[in-house]
Amino acid sequence: MASINILSAISHRSPELPAGVRTSQNLISYYPRRRPRSVLCAGSPSGTPIEKPEIELEFIGPKPGSDGSYPVDKAKAISGEKLLRNIMLDNKIELYATYGKVMNCGGGGSCGTCIVEIIDGTDLLNERTNTELRYFKKKPESWRLACQTIVGNKENSGKVVVQRIPQWKK
Ligand code: FES
Repeated sequence: MASINILSAISHRSPELPAGVRTSQNLISYYPRRRPRSVLCAGSPSGTPIEKPEIELEFIGPKPGSDGSYPVDKAKAISGEKLLRNIMLDNKIELYATYGKVMNCGGGGSCGTCIVEIIDGTDLLNERTNTELRYFKKKPESWRLACQTIVGNKENSGKVVVQRIPQWKK
């Protein structure tokens, strides 16, 4: 591969450079800088903000209230941007039982304390990850690790219903 001695090219005419390329200024115009690539995220080229699809979530409480009914928490998330675990934590929706509150792995997929059951909207989530496949070999298809579950795929929208901590179910 041919190389150019830049210092000699700046002060003297290099035999490898085309005629007329002698100074640093000439070098810059001969080898123009490329502009950095940029990605427009905030809106369309016309300046109008792009509307991102949203997923509605309902979280059925792990324990019934005094009237015997289960409390329901609600949240919304931009499709495909967050893990179910993070949505729950961001919205202060209880995910972990007593042990999990102090001993969870922080979303690494190794403790199994973030189990939820998807009651509705499975098709709006990612496929089970390999970690989940290992965890849930003989468990119902509807069980997921919240830290492995991506809500939405950036294009879909709809409603996901989550039952928290299915272990309490008999
Ligand atoms: S937080 Fe540990 S497996 Fe999900």
